[in-house]
Amino acid sequence: MGHKIFIKTFGCQMNEYDSNRIYDTVKKIGYHKTEKYVEADCYLLNTCHIRDKAKEKVYHEIGRVKKIFRFKKKPLVIVAGCVAQAENQEMLKREPYIDLVIGPQSYHKINDTILKYVEKNKKFEETEFDPISKFNFLKKIKNDSRKVSSFLTIQEGCDKFCHFCVVPFTRGPEYSRPFKQILNEAKYLVENGTKEIILLGQNVNAYRNKEYRLSNLILEIEKLSGVKRIRYTTSHPKDMTDDLIEVYKYSKKLMPLVHLPVQSGSNKILNLMNRKHTINEYIKIYDKLKKINPNIEFSSDFIIGYPGEEDSDFKDTFDLIKKIKFVNSYSFIFSPRPGTVAAESKLIDKKILLKRLEKIQNKLFENQSSMNKLLVNKTINVLVENFTEDKTRVFGRSEHMTSVIFNGKKSDIGKIVAVKIKQSNRSTLFAEKIYEPNKKVA
Ligand code: SAM
Ligand code: SF4
Ligand code: F3S
Repeated sequence: MGHKIFIKTFGCQMNEYDSNRIYDTVKKIGYHKTEKYVEADCYLLNTCHIRDKAKEKVYHEIGRVKKIFRFKKKPLVIVAGCVAQAENQEMLKREPYIDLVIGPQSYHKINDTILKYVEKNKKFEETEFDPISKFNFLKKIKNDSRKVSSFLTIQEGCDKFCHFCVVPFTRGPEYSRPFKQILNEAKYLVENGTKEIILLGQNVNAYRNKEYRLSNLILEIEKLSGVKRIRYTTSHPKDMTDDLIEVYKYSKKLMPLVHLPVQSGSNKILNLMNRKHTINEYIKIYDKLKKINPNIEFSSDFIIGYPGEEDSDFKDTFDLIKKIKFVNSYSFIFSPRPGTVAAESKLIDKKILLKRLEKIQNKLFENQSSMNKLLVNKTINVLVENFTEDKTRVFGRSEHMTSVIFNGKKSDIGKIVAVKIKQSNRSTLFAEKIYEPNKKVA
């Protein structure tokens, strides 16, 4: 059987990991990836439910596919991911063009589901929360990412139930993969060209498997000689335990960037959000890490205009970002999500929301730009990932995850090279490679 699958992915890195693993799986029944819609005989949309209009986006996208295939044989249409989980059978009823609906904890059943569909021409919905079977299945299917920087999911789901968030409903309860299983996947990735491993979880630092924690995993993965860099995301301040903080003292490969979403600078709002930590506790973590290594930087997520956010609460957020200069950040206006505690709360006036968002983003972006500017004329290490799209230069990431573009060669890909920064903007550093024949870089 030779089929072509087109996979479109929305949402977080975990969805990207899932799309890769779905592809590793469907390859077994003869599907090959295509980058062109029109060639596909299977169209898979891996969806995200985190903010408003997620559902509508999916139907809009299906509408587009319908149009493209108006005069061609209809592809097999699969909706996977968090919208699939939240909407399940409703999707099949509302849009008959959809054939299969598969949730994020049951995509290991995708091959059986496709084959059953082909055999019986019957639509299916698979939305059980079954991460144990999922990872038991996936451990037998190689992770063929073959990228310089690869994602590796170690933990799924969330038990925290922040009042604004759908993740506990779409990904289910917290589950940590067995330690050994993760190490085997890491080994395989490295044997096949991966130099940087990004450990993933909706609450990655809540990882617990028997006596093992995230700190143990980092130190164990670090022993693989092919691994040059290790990162993890996304962590929750509540789970930023001392053992994990201490790893920054010993680890040679853990990168000095901590993505630690704070959401708001106001204790009142954090409490309303059910975030389970205070600003003081957040700053304590920041101080501890900075004391260990002043080169450690932070990035964060912010929700602007959470119900009940007054001018003084917004000012607290603004003051926090003046104190902690986040190297990168994502800020979103609060979006009421069905089924969450905050869904029915009184919304703040749209004009006020937009003003606050603009003000906060201006400040966040100004901080980012000025921090990047400080790097001009400095030499930094970059892990080179690939060519730029026009193939004229290469791109990679700094230790703090900032994109770096420079005049490299094919042989630089997969290596850590020293470059001199020539120019910068808010999100990118433009550099020149330093040619120093015998110089070894970390
Ligand atoms: N587990 C992570 C944590 O606790 O910080 C966050 C994971 S969530 C997938 C990513 C980000 O989406 C959150 O940090 C939050 O800023 C944003 N987000 C989640 N629900 C939201 C909502 N209802 N409205 C706006 N932003 C939201
Ligand atoms: Fe969502 Fe909160 Fe869980 Fe993060 S900790 S995934 S924001 S419920
Ligand atoms: Fe979106 Fe699901 Fe990730 S809702 S952010 S794809 S966990």
